[in-house]
Amino acid sequence: MEITFRLNGEVVRTDTTHTNTLLDHLRETRGLTGTKEGCNEGDCGACTVMVQDERGTHALNACILFMPQLHGKSVTTVEGLAQGDTLHPVQEAMIQEHGSQCGFCTPGIVMSLATAHAKGETNHEDILAGNLCRCTGYAPILRAAAKAAAQPAPHPEFTPLDIPALIERPESADELAALYALRPDATLIAGATDVGLWVTKRLMALEEVIFLGGVKDLVGITETDTDFTIGAMTPIADLAPAFGAQSPSLAEMFRRFASVQVRSAATLGGNIANGSPIGDSPPPLIAANATLTLRRGDTRRTIALEDFFIAYGKQDRQPSEFVESITVPKAGLADLRVYKLSKRFDQDISAVCGAFNLTVEGDTITAARIAFGGMAATPKRASAVEVALIGQPFTRATIDAALPAFAQDYQPLSDMRASADYRLTTAQNMLVRYLLERTTGDAPTSVLEVQP
Ligand SMILES: Cc1cc2nc3c(=O)[nH]c(=O)nc-3n(C[C@H](O)[C@H](O)[C@H](O)COP(=O)(O)OP(=O)(O)OC[C@H]3O[C@@H](n4cnc5c(N)ncnc54)[C@H](O)[C@@H]3O)c2cc1C
Ligand code: FES
Ligand code: FES
Repeated sequence: MEITFRLNGEVVRTDTTHTNTLLDHLRETRGLTGTKEGCNEGDCGACTVMVQDERGTHALNACILFMPQLHGKSVTTVEGLAQGDTLHPVQEAMIQEHGSQCGFCTPGIVMSLATAHAKGETNHEDILAGNLCRCTGYAPILRAAAKAAAQPAPHPEFTPLDIPALIERPESADELAALYALRPDATLIAGATDVGLWVTKRLMALEEVIFLGGVKDLVGITETDTDFTIGAMTPIADLAPAFGAQSPSLAEMFRRFASVQVRSAATLGGNIANGSPIGDSPPPLIAANATLTLRRGDTRRTIALEDFFIAYGKQDRQPSEFVESITVPKAGLADLRVYKLSKRFDQDISAVCGAFNLTVEGDTITAARIAFGGMAATPKRASAVEVALIGQPFTRATIDAALPAFAQDYQPLSDMRASADYRLTTAQNMLVRYLLERTTGDAPTSVLEVQP
């Protein structure tokens, strides 16, 4: 197919396969080798580029970005950052502060920081969570980031391009529904932060694809007095700000989801539709009593989110049916806490993700919704634990009495992320943590609250 995009200010028209990555295009077709290949799976940030579209300016990993996803967008690589002989303030500050040694990570770090600069964001530790530097150490890089943030810089403006429609890239949910009905075997590609790895790591050939990136009416969050409804194509990056006021705990989990680059591409619909047992959004959304709206042709059905996950790799989704939206009742957020446990604090997939939502009236637990990722073949509720809690006083004695029920609900696996024993023990500890957080209030339990 032929796509059109802007690369470092120049309009480019190019033929591409469905799954050629931007990284390969830059390095192999354009000779723009400043953008590096480290992991080729979205983990290290060496390939970070700046991408602009009508929704804004984003730092993205070029290694898991398929060329057709760029149709109509603007890409700036490290080669396009300086203005003539004048370096971008981030580049200048990296030199002055000795922020680079071997230099392999440096273009990616510069592009992450330049994108943040363009957006006026200065939370640099978070911004760089997806950029791995193995040799300099982060102190000089963070000093450079702070220094550059104080300097003004011209930023590339996004100017929409006049682009032809592509059949594989519907522009509305109606178009998507019609196309998917005709091509039920097509692979849907949303942010490609999972699908990208099928291609770069598993070397899968995707014969037939439908890109969802142009489906504008699946992006966005609608808020009413009672609910949030989130379009399937809403990026994970938009969720922490949306939920911050109602559930700081949920917002914090979304802030720890992967990295800036991955959160900017990954969608909530993709995180649910992939059916992963270790996806971070299903446990808290199940605990909050969320529902899922699926669409096939013009027919929609709404199910409880927990019912979508049938077995490992098997979801309640018919041929040509896609995830349209997720609705989260506000009432499910007030008492919700979510605890993500991973080997690294930032940019890591959960070993265990536990979500707790107990309703306490007077001293008594009157309702309980508890769900976990990483404990079973699907995201799954702790039904036996819930039964052990409901009707009991909200006390340590009740919690202790309920802990053995975890072994009824879950028989977790041992794998590279955690052993079965560790998973079971930490899941039980999370319930104790939930009690302490809600009842004592004076015991800091987040690592961000515990100061040395
Ligand atoms: C470095 C890295 C770190 C990560 N960290 C985390 C993490 O901390 N927590 C976490 O949970 N995940 C993590 N992930 C996994 C991934 O980012 C998420 O699963 C993401 O939400 C997937 O969304 P996507 O839009 O990229 O989906 P895609 O990769 O485009 O698609 C994923 C699957 O969903 C299907 N699909 C997509 N949209 C729809 C739809 N609307 N209807 C039906 N099917 C659809 C696709 O066909 C595919 O099967 C990480 C990934 C990487 C590469
Ligand atoms: S090469 Fe590591 S994130 Fe792209
Ligand atoms: S400067 Fe060598 S990896 Fe960062």
